[in-house]
Amino acid sequence: MSSFPIVRMRRTRQNDKLRGLVRETRLSVDQLVYPLFIAEGIVEPCKISAMPGMMQWPIEHLGREAERIARLGIPAVLLFGIPNEKDEVGSQAYHAQGIIQQAIRCLKSETPDTLVITDVCLCEYTSHGHCGVVANGGVQNDETLALLSRMALSHAEAGADIVAPSDMMDGRVRAIRRTLDEYGLQQIPIMAYSAKFASGFYGPFREAAASVPQFGDRRSYQMDPANVREALREVELDIAEGADIVMVKPALAYLDVIRRVRERCDLPIAAYNVSGEYAMIKAAAQQGWIDEQRIVLEVLTGIKRAGADIIITYFAPDVAQWLKA
Ligand code: PBG
Repeated sequence: MSSFPIVRMRRTRQNDKLRGLVRETRLSVDQLVYPLFIAEGIVEPCKISAMPGMMQWPIEHLGREAERIARLGIPAVLLFGIPNEKDEVGSQAYHAQGIIQQAIRCLKSETPDTLVITDVCLCEYTSHGHCGVVANGGVQNDETLALLSRMALSHAEAGADIVAPSDMMDGRVRAIRRTLDEYGLQQIPIMAYSAKFASGFYGPFREAAASVPQFGDRRSYQMDPANVREALREVELDIAEGADIVMVKPALAYLDVIRRVRERCDLPIAAYNVSGEYAMIKAAAQQGWIDEQRIVLEVLTGIKRAGADIIITYFAPDVAQWLKA
């Protein structure tokens, strides 16, 4: 193998055009998903303090925000609902007039071309804040599956384009697939949060979505951050159950997981650049300690380079603008 001075790595780094020719990874707005929080019982958009720039939206203002997102070229939104009423079984999660079902119908009439992805999980809708039915002091897996299926079905019936279960119950992808198919919704893809870790990086989201568990934590269903082989099993099971897209979440502390999943499977992979990852960058940028644009583009490029296709990120509108400029 030849080496210096015949090989000079700096030859292809001399200017922007050369660097562009040899660039291996590119961010593109067509693979970004922007999360939206829709709250019942508010009349004005309400700032989320731990996520500067993010809002909880009332239905009345959703159309305008959706138009802004569509104009930026962002292809898809991921919806989270904050209902007025919570109960033990998260009834509002699968109510035809629930906040998310209303939001889906609103988005599909205002911006029909924007893909609507819905988060399928009970934690925002249960009084105890857990992602499933609680009995005997624990989250019950099999009882929860029926509720998740109803929730996914009600989203699809309201017009959702993709459903995304994030609860981490075993068997939920198959349960949801069966229900959708039974109701003639064979065409609705499932984006499974397959490797979802029990992470401190969800902190700001729980403020945004008012979904802090009232007792205990989520470690009996979300994954241990130390495990990558287990993540591969989760992914394989979700594929066997019928997932169309698999997800790794969070992204930054789990780039190796994304890479391992990429090497193992040929499905599209989504990575969720979560609320804590967003908040850290925002906080440091507000202090003037880092260059926000540069860091965000670097971080998202790293997630792509690790092997993700789709990136779910609160930075999507900013990135869309930067990529255009
Ligand atoms: C569960 C859900 C969570 C997130 C997405 N879906 C929170 C959790 O599991 O506690 C976190 C997203 C983020 O932190 O940005 N419904």
